[in-house]
Amino acid sequence: MRKKIIAGNWKMFKTAPEAVELVEGLKKELAGMNAVDVVVCPPFVHLSKAVEILSGSGIAVGGQNLFWEDSGAFTGEISGTMLTSYGVKYVIIGHSERRQYFGETNETVNKRLRAALKNGLKAIVCVGENLAEREGGKTFDVVQDHVKGSLAGLTKEDMLKVTIAYEPVWAIGTGKTATSAQAQEVHAFIRDILQKMFDKATADATRIQYGGSVKPENAAELMSQKDVDGALVGGACLKADSFTAIVKNSVPNS
Ligand code: PGA
Repeated sequence: MRKKIIAGNWKMFKTAPEAVELVEGLKKELAGMNAVDVVVCPPFVHLSKAVEILSGSGIAVGGQNLFWEDSGAFTGEISGTMLTSYGVKYVIIGHSERRQYFGETNETVNKRLRAALKNGLKAIVCVGENLAEREGGKTFDVVQDHVKGSLAGLTKEDMLKVTIAYEPVWAIGTGKTATSAQAQEVHAFIRDILQKMFDKATADATRIQYGGSVKPENAAELMSQKDVDGALVGGACLKADSFTAIVKNSVPNS
């Protein structure tokens, strides 16, 4: 049984006081929630405070990106060594917004992923097709390209620290969720690719999250699918009550 992992991707939201309020709310609701791995990914500037507040709560903190060098003249960038030095445990890599607006490619995703693993960070690697690709019947080609390109050269041991997030771009922030059957179909396909790239044990152990308009109302149905092992949540993670409800709804009888 794979333990579910629910991560909240705050994107570029929340000022300093708003961030403290949200993190404190999450701590109150979700501290000690052992049935699910919970990860909170605020913007870089809030990471230190989030780690401080969540210390001892069992809720992990993640960054939304990192650069592949450990240090150097790279104005505006943040490294894996910096993240771990603040007690950050996870990092999101290759989110579709980074692919769309910041020139992220499979190659740069792979470089960032290697840097994350080298620094002992756990990575959430995002893959997924856009609307034109889905309508053009290219979903499986695009997902395969993202998975293979992003994970190129990784070992089975590396994969112990990797979670994949399948996020159909047409479902992100649109209120248009993939049906549970659509999600399951692609998740099973990804697991099959992992089996071919690594082996069955690695494919069976790797957690694959769904992302794209996950809400308290649809979380349970999505999470009940055989190959859906959690969620990467955007909009609904910005309020403590809705993120908490998603976490609780993701495990039956919690
Ligand atoms: P959404 O975003 O939940 O607002 O659709 C998900 C994501 O981009 O990770």
